[in-house]
Amino acid sequence: MFLESAQYYDVIYSFKDYQAEVQQLVAIINEHHLSEVKSLLDVACGTGKHIQYLKDHYEVEGLDLSQELLDFARQCNPGISYYHADMVEFDLGRAFEVVTCLFSSIGYVKTHENLSRALTCMARHLLPGGLLIIEPWFTPDTWNPGTVHAHFIDEPDLKIARVNTSFTEGRLSCFDFHYLIGTPEGTKHFVERHELGLFTTEETSAVLVDLGLKVTFDAEGLTGRGLLIGRKPV
Ligand SMILES: C[S@@+](CC[C@H](N)C(=O)[O-])C[C@H]1O[C@@H](n2cnc3c(N)ncnc32)[C@H](O)[C@@H]1O
Repeated sequence: MFLESAQYYDVIYSFKDYQAEVQQLVAIINEHHLSEVKSLLDVACGTGKHIQYLKDHYEVEGLDLSQELLDFARQCNPGISYYHADMVEFDLGRAFEVVTCLFSSIGYVKTHENLSRALTCMARHLLPGGLLIIEPWFTPDTWNPGTVHAHFIDEPDLKIARVNTSFTEGRLSCFDFHYLIGTPEGTKHFVERHELGLFTTEETSAVLVDLGLKVTFDAEGLTGRGLLIGRKPV
């Protein structure tokens, strides 16, 4: 998934304004949570770019499946606890006032069964009254197969071209990221496949409701991809 590209993750996603997203997230948390929030777990935290700003507001911990991305998260935010774990089956032995899963990471669980398992794990890590905040991936209706995408980085000592064509396999959205990367040491090419499950908003909401959470959906969210907010009863 993000293996060879891990060292370029932050430069590739430098267009994302993590600080502004966190400001918005904090406002949403304040709006929905009934009392003061102290602890937050960021599931699929990647290189910890949200955590870099969330840690100014909460006692934050992070979890991700990629050891490579976690290594960068640890460098970026020393002193934070990070867990190398699969969101589909994890047990940290403690609960938080807020659990987040941002930037569409939930799509990587691929199947409805895994969606249910992952959301169950996340909900189990919520304190009473706690919030589960999911930034979803595309839905079957909003995904556009057969579209071509390119992203370029043009720095003095680093050139990146990342090109892909989107396609669908059943309920999976798929793309092969072709990376062409130039540095003073040389130029290399590699391909990384990404496969994300296409879940409707109703399917994800239904899982949260079955888990006993009260669900609201913000169609715009932090980045235009929407935001599902589930609150555990007090
Ligand atoms: C698009 S990145 C988002 C990373 C980070 N949240 C951000 O906003 O930059 C998707 C993340 O999901 C993680 N991931 C994918 N499948 C996972 C799983 N089963 N359990 C935990 N993390 C997973 C990847 O390693 C990657 O860090």
